[in-house]
Amino acid sequence: MGSLATTPPFQVLDDTRPDDKSLPAFMVSTTRGFLPRMDPVVSLPAEFDALESILQRMPVKTASGEPGLLALGKLGDEVDGSFPDLTAAMDRYEDDLPVMNALYRDYSFLASAYLLEPCHERFVRGEGYGLGRQRLPRNISQPIARCAEICGFKPFMEYAGSYALFNYRLVDPAAGLEYSNLRLIRAFEHGLDPESSEAGFVLVHIDMVKNSGPLVAGTMQCLEVASRASSGLGSVEERTALNQGLRRILDAMTSINGVMETMWGKSRPTEYTSFRTFIFGITSQSMFPDGVVYEGLNDDQPLSFRGESGANDSMVPLMDNLLQVPMPSTPLTEILKDFRQYRPSNHKAFLQHVRDRSMEVELRAFTLGLKQDGQEGSGDEEKRELLRQSRGLWLQILNQVRDFRWRHWCFAREYILKRTAHPTATGGSPIVTWLPNQLEAVLADMADINDVARRDDARGLGRTCDDVMEAAMRQRETLRKEVDKYCAERGVARG
Ligand code: HEM
Repeated sequence: MGSLATTPPFQVLDDTRPDDKSLPAFMVSTTRGFLPRMDPVVSLPAEFDALESILQRMPVKTASGEPGLLALGKLGDEVDGSFPDLTAAMDRYEDDLPVMNALYRDYSFLASAYLLEPCHERFVRGEGYGLGRQRLPRNISQPIARCAEICGFKPFMEYAGSYALFNYRLVDPAAGLEYSNLRLIRAFEHGLDPESSEAGFVLVHIDMVKNSGPLVAGTMQCLEVASRASSGLGSVEERTALNQGLRRILDAMTSINGVMETMWGKSRPTEYTSFRTFIFGITSQSMFPDGVVYEGLNDDQPLSFRGESGANDSMVPLMDNLLQVPMPSTPLTEILKDFRQYRPSNHKAFLQHVRDRSMEVELRAFTLGLKQDGQEGSGDEEKRELLRQSRGLWLQILNQVRDFRWRHWCFAREYILKRTAHPTATGGSPIVTWLPNQLEAVLADMADINDVARRDDARGLGRTCDDVMEAAMRQRETLRKEVDKYCAERGVARG
């Protein structure tokens, strides 16, 4: 419990001020969590009609159902031929950050489609990806660099600012964020059809993040209680408030995982690899062995960015930081840290704040009762019981993080490993070993915490937690066997 705060305070919004254009589109709030402050801007200012037009004509299947430029292999010619450089028009909207974010979204769609169009054509013919285009022409490189700089993104498609969280519109504004009321704004393949696998893939992410407000609120509550807790276990009131915060987090994570399970029905495992071609990055991808030259930028020396990936979502990283999940010192963990850069600045700052603050107020030690000061003996039964609840809740939250990561492993297996030999995921992580690196870390942490609780109190944490641990340890065996099998089949080291 840190009485001397050195971590600067962080302002989480309760009111997202949707009409305020001077604030970035992405800020963290207790109401919308990690979703943008307002629903994404759909229509671009008139100066950008040429951008709107090419993006509407671009998808493999356009809104009218007709084949688009990517189906006909004509996007590259169109960009290289008649598409104008609209950078100068962009400066007029410098003070309207939501519009700027929409421009960033739209230019990043165009950039990825342009760079990966040749790979898509080969993929459709049943060939390997081969090489993508190695140069991004000035009419895309200049404006994407400009709007990315203003919005605080990298000049390449990102998960939150572009592909997923800033890419929905509401059919009926009054019906809000109901799944059936959501449509994509931009798509590469069949995503303008709401029943398509591309739409389902993106919309399930949004549907999950919709539940992140209480995750943020519970996080702030726990940190706040730990910062003022008076002694080793805190007072009864403090521990009761801590447990309420933990319960909010647990309930939010349970809802988020419940929505994640709907992915299987909304986006078919057999169809993922075809729209995925367009969301690959540059870093660690065979399509761009030497990076990509952005004309007029970086002295025309190649640049490299990771691709769009849910790894840049902020919910699980929030839990990792709050719960202080110990990650192993491996090159795979370095990739996890690198992913943390690819997100809106305010999300980045929030994650860092939570990590620092959780350490500073010793949230883990406080919650788990690892810092009892000797004044709280066996006499204080009420507090001991509340401590047992804290430990049980913490373990159950970790179990939700495990559940998320286990389902992920299942997604990777069913949507990717069974369908393609390409060795890296869209974000550039090694496809067999990276997800298990973090899942193993969570399983190890759960086992440690359960052991500590048992050593301290022979009753353990009760039936629910015992069942959780039994299933988790069985899962660990299954995971190890599966990873060994895929490593052997593909000739890769375990990592
Ligand atoms: C069909 C569904 C999905 C597939 C095939 C899939 C695939 C992957 C892959 C291969 C990675 C490795 C990172 C990389 O891109 O290099 C990853 C990471 C990740 N994805 Fe997904 N994903 C899916 C759905 C989701 C959803 C719905 C979310 C929700 C926010 C999400 C969040 C994440 C997170 C947080 C990570 C990092 C995992 C970690 O820290 O251990 N993904 N995903």
